[in-house]
Parts: sequence; structure tokens; C-alpha cells
Amino acid sequence: MKNITITRMTDDDVSEIAELEKKCFAVPWSEKSFRDEMQNKLAVYFVAKDNGKCIGYAGFWNVSGEGDITNVAVLPEYRKNGIGSMLISEMIKTAVTLKLELLTLEVRKSNIAAQGLYKKYGFDIIGERKRYYSDNGEDAWIMTKSFEPCEE
Ligand SMILES: CC(C)(COP(=O)(O)OP(=O)(O)OC[C@H]1O[C@@H](n2cnc3c(N)ncnc32)[C@H](O)[C@@H]1OP(=O)(O)O)[C@@H](O)C(=O)NCCC(=O)NCCS
Repeated sequence: MKNITITRMTDDDVSEIAELEKKCFAVPWSEKSFRDEMQNKLAVYFVAKDNGKCIGYAGFWNVSGEGDITNVAVLPEYRKNGIGSMLISEMIKTAVTLKLELLTLEVRKSNIAAQGLYKKYGFDIIGERKRYYSDNGEDAWIMTKSFEPCEE
């Protein structure tokens, strides 16, 4: 894929991201949720664009030295092209720059694609949350990638 850029998400991206969200999740976040996230000082969001069109996004909350990944999503027609990988790589790079101890997330046990992406980038299953998803009562795996503390 050529001409793919990864940039920080801004207010200008939010309406397009909210439309993308509907194509990616059974229980999508609202446009207002994304607008609120843009005001959230703990939130760090990235957007993948193909010639200016939003085709994916990912983000985390920087809470007490840990990065809690809220979501990673790529438009269905752009999947399996390395876009999810680009978004994860950018979050890992940013986590290292921010000196976070770890990145962590919950993922549906049925979501093999997402688990494959996270495993590929060094996330391990460290636990589970029973009936974590309210729409169908599905369990979540907790997956975490830890960073070695840097020697000063
Ligand atoms: C998960 C998701 C973001 C992956 O995005 P993507 O751009 O297709 O990912 P990539 O092309 O970078 O794939 C990277 C790796 O993920 C894994 N992967 C991706 N799609 C997969 C699939 N359908 N089945 C199994 N593994 C898959 C593979 O390990 C792949 O590496 P490989 O290409 O060397 O085999 C995308 O499928 C998506 O948006 N899903 C819906 C939203 C979602 O479930 N988000 C996660 C919430 S926790």
C-alpha cells in the first residue's frame, strides 16, 4: 500500500472516524465519544490515511505509566495490508518515547485476527475477564506488552 500516513488524530478527523467505527464494531463508539477523547489529556490517538482518507485508527490512554489501548480498527476493505501493523508500531514507538512500562488491552476471545496482530507485536495473554462484553457476554483476554526499563 502506497501513500499511507499515520498521524495524530485531530478534531477534523472525528466525523470520518465515527463513520469508520460503524463499519468495524458491533457496538460502535459515538461521534461524541471521539470528540470527548480529543479533549482527554490522557488520550493518544492515531489515524491511518490513504491519500487523505481515514482508513484506520488506534489509541490508548496514558494512565500512571501504563498505556491502555482502547481500540484498533481498519476499514474492512483495507485489512490484511499491514495497516493495523503500522498503527500498532506507532503506538509502541510512542509508548517507548513516553517511557511507559507497558501497553495493555482487552480483546474478545473470538477475535482471532486482532489476537494475531497483537501476538505478532509481542503482546502476551496475561489473564482474562469473564463476560467482559455486555452485548453478548463474551469473555476477554487481557494482552500486555511490557517494556524493559531503560538504563540511564
Ligand atoms: C484487527 C485488525 C485491526 C487488523 O488490521 P489489519 O490491517 O488487517 O492487520 P495487518 O494486515 O497489519 O495484519 C497483521 C497481523 O495480524 C494478524 N491478522 C490480521 N488479520 C488476520 C486474520 N483475518 N486472521 C488471522 N490473523 C490475522 C496476522 O498475524 C497478521 O500478520 P501477517 O500478515 O504476517 O499474517 C482488523 O482486522 C480490524 O479492524 N478488525 C475489526 C476491529 C477489531 O476487532 N479491532 C480489535 C479490537 S480489540
